[in-house]
Amino acid sequence: MQTLERADIESIDYGGHESDATIVRGYQNYTVSDHAISASSNPTKSRPWTDTKVKSEFFKEIINDIRPRTYADFGCNLGFYVFLSSIARIPSMGVDYNMEYIGVCQSIKARHQDLLRDSSFTHSNLEGWVTCSDTYDLLTVFNVIHHLYDRTEQYRDMDKLVGDFASKSNKHVLFEFPTERDKKGHKWTQDTNYTEEVFLETANKLFTEVKHIPGQTLERPYYLCTK
Ligand SMILES: C[S@@+](CC[C@H](N)C(=O)[O-])C[C@H]1O[C@@H](n2cnc3c(N)ncnc32)[C@H](O)[C@@H]1O
Repeated sequence: MQTLERADIESIDYGGHESDATIVRGYQNYTVSDHAISASSNPTKSRPWTDTKVKSEFFKEIINDIRPRTYADFGCNLGFYVFLSSIARIPSMGVDYNMEYIGVCQSIKARHQDLLRDSSFTHSNLEGWVTCSDTYDLLTVFNVIHHLYDRTEQYRDMDKLVGDFASKSNKHVLFEFPTERDKKGHKWTQDTNYTEEVFLETANKLFTEVKHIPGQTLERPYYLCTK
C-alpha cells in the first residue's frame, strides 16, 4: 500500500530498561505506563486543529454514554483512542494505512502488554478493510474522511464512502468532519464535490439519527451517527 507521506511522529521515548512509562509525541500526544494512559495537550503550536487532551475528554464522555462492547478507530495514527478504550476492557481495533503508525502501536502494546491486552491493530485502507466482515458497536473516523475522497483513496463518491464506513458498524459511527471551509482539509478536496451538505444528505439516508456536536474548531464538527 502506498503511503503519501512519512508518519507525523516526533518521538517515542521508551526510557530504557528501568522505565515504566512511554512518552509519545507527534500528531497524538500521550504517556502510557504499565498502569494508565494520560493524554497531553499540544506541546507546541503545531496542529492547532487537534489536541489529544481535549479530544480525550470528549471521547471518554462518548464511551460513557454509548458503552460500546466493541470499538474500532479508523485512521488510528499513534493509537491513543484504541489504547484508552482497551484499558476500559473494551476490545478495540486500530486501522491505519501507514505501516509506520501500526508498527509503533504494536511496539507500544508489546511494551505494556498486560494493560493494553484488549487492543489490536490492522494495516489497511478502507477499500481493504470493508472486505472483512467484522463490525463494531462504535467506529470513530476522526479527521480522516477528507483524505479518502481523492487523496489516499479515490472514493470521490460520498454515498459509497459513508456507506463503507456504515457497513463496519452495527450501531454508531462518530465522524470528526473537516468541512470544505476548513483551510487544511480543503486542500485535499478542492476539486471535488466534497461538502458538509453532501455528507449530511448521505448520512441522513444511511442512519436513523445524525447528531451534530461542536468540535475543537468550528470547521471540524463531530457527527454522531446512529443506525
Ligand atoms: C489527520 S490524521 C488523524 C489521526 C487520528 N484519527 C486523530 O484524529 O487523532 C489521519 C490519519 O489517517 C491515516 N490515513 C489516511 N488515509 C488513510 C486511509 N486511506 N486508510 C487508512 N488510514 C488512513 C493516516 O495515516 C493518519 O494516521
